[in-house]
Amino acid sequence: VSATGRGKADVLIDDETIVAVLQPGSELLGTDVAASVDRVIDATGKYVIPGGIDAHTHMQLPFGGTSASDTFETGTRAAAWGGTTTIIDFAVQTYGGDVFEGLGKWHDLAAGNCAIDYGFHQIIGGIDEASLAAMPKLIDEGISSFKLFMAYPGVFYSDDAQILRAMQVSRDTGLLTMMHAENGPAIDVLAAQLVEQGKTDPFYHGIARAWQMEEEATHRAIMLANLTGAPLYVVHVSAKQAVKQLAWARDKGQNVFGETCPQYLYLSLEEQLGAKSDEWGAFEGAKWVCSTPIRSREDGHQDYMWQALRTNDLQMVSTDHCPFCMKDQKELGLGDFRKIPNGIGSVEHRMDLMYQGVVTGKLTLERWVELTSTTPARMFGLYGRKGVIQPGADGDVVIYDPNGHTSIGVNNTHHMNMDHSAWEGYEIDGHVDTVLSRGKVIVDGGQYLGSKGDGRYLKRGLSQYLT
Ligand code: URP
Ligand code: ZN
Ligand code: ZN
Repeated sequence: VSATGRGKADVLIDDETIVAVLQPGSELLGTDVAASVDRVIDATGKYVIPGGIDAHTHMQLPFGGTSASDTFETGTRAAAWGGTTTIIDFAVQTYGGDVFEGLGKWHDLAAGNCAIDYGFHQIIGGIDEASLAAMPKLIDEGISSFKLFMAYPGVFYSDDAQILRAMQVSRDTGLLTMMHAENGPAIDVLAAQLVEQGKTDPFYHGIARAWQMEEEATHRAIMLANLTGAPLYVVHVSAKQAVKQLAWARDKGQNVFGETCPQYLYLSLEEQLGAKSDEWGAFEGAKWVCSTPIRSREDGHQDYMWQALRTNDLQMVSTDHCPFCMKDQKELGLGDFRKIPNGIGSVEHRMDLMYQGVVTGKLTLERWVELTSTTPARMFGLYGRKGVIQPGADGDVVIYDPNGHTSIGVNNTHHMNMDHSAWEGYEIDGHVDTVLSRGKVIVDGGQYLGSKGDGRYLKRGLSQYLT
């Protein structure tokens, strides 16, 4: 199955690279090639797809007074289990720090530790003369996208003047501007008022981060991009009103893109409000604290996200994988939801959760591949090598069994370094059977066969969606 069609074929991989895709009738048997094949994997009755590309992860991210609980080692191994063979993580320039120092640190964290190939985006944590001068040089490092935050004042936040200047660099260089679009200063006022009123449970995180805050920031980002001519990619879109802003800009021909995440397709504020456990009481809801927040099902946000994936108002699905344990991490926010580290862990489940969209008739098989692999490759300058099964591409291949079954999160059977799952109890029709990363079988029949260090750093080119 590719983004554009499906059919029966044999995929021939030589060492790390796909060398042929043979249609039925083309004679492999008895040829010189067949004689030299040393392993045959029978995928009869299963889907053969290009390995998943998760273009938004945060391994080991220092955030909220702690660090994301998956290391590059544990997080990429979990990704492999779930049929993802490439991640693009975010290197961090800390506030006022040096861009390349931040990038160097991320290389140190990842190098030799990854189960699958990886690339980086660069978080610009303080736009000043130095970072503006450094940004064009990122392209030589294989980094063709940077993330700015309209949220989190005092942490990663950029004001409009800073955003404008960074977008001018984006326009001049082709670096893709990625935006966390939420009005952070206004959210912080609302959050403080809620806490003063004694409304401190996790649920109020989503009340403070109202959809108006996302719609407004998305519009502002679109207009700044329009003015400057910068290509814009809005990350983790969760509000239907924000999608409408993106669609409006795209309809005018603006080079604007949007990503959503599985949590915004499945999880809701109502369920967070209802979540109570013996261990945590209402603080159970902390498991689903992320930004942008999960939204009201009553207001139809989840249905709207699925629709937008069908109509291409949203182009991709990434996880925003940013896991924190309840113990010692999420519990920092007991008594004050503002102190709960933001993030959900899903890197292992994205391919399964999105395949569920095929099962329920919301997506075609081709669209599933496009949203999870092919478009991410194109968006972030990896296409040809990744995101497609064709001669010359890396041998990143997943064999997916539509008749298999996956129970997600049950008794912590997942492989992410977390003490819980935001997806506890999800039952999936379908199962990742076999995963090849650059021709090496790393997951097979419930066994992990890879090793840390299999994954290599990917130097990315410019977005293949630049106009
Ligand atoms: O809650 C989230 N999304 N945590 C990760 C940081 C970010 O804003 O992407
Ligand atoms: Zn963000
Ligand atoms: Zn993120």
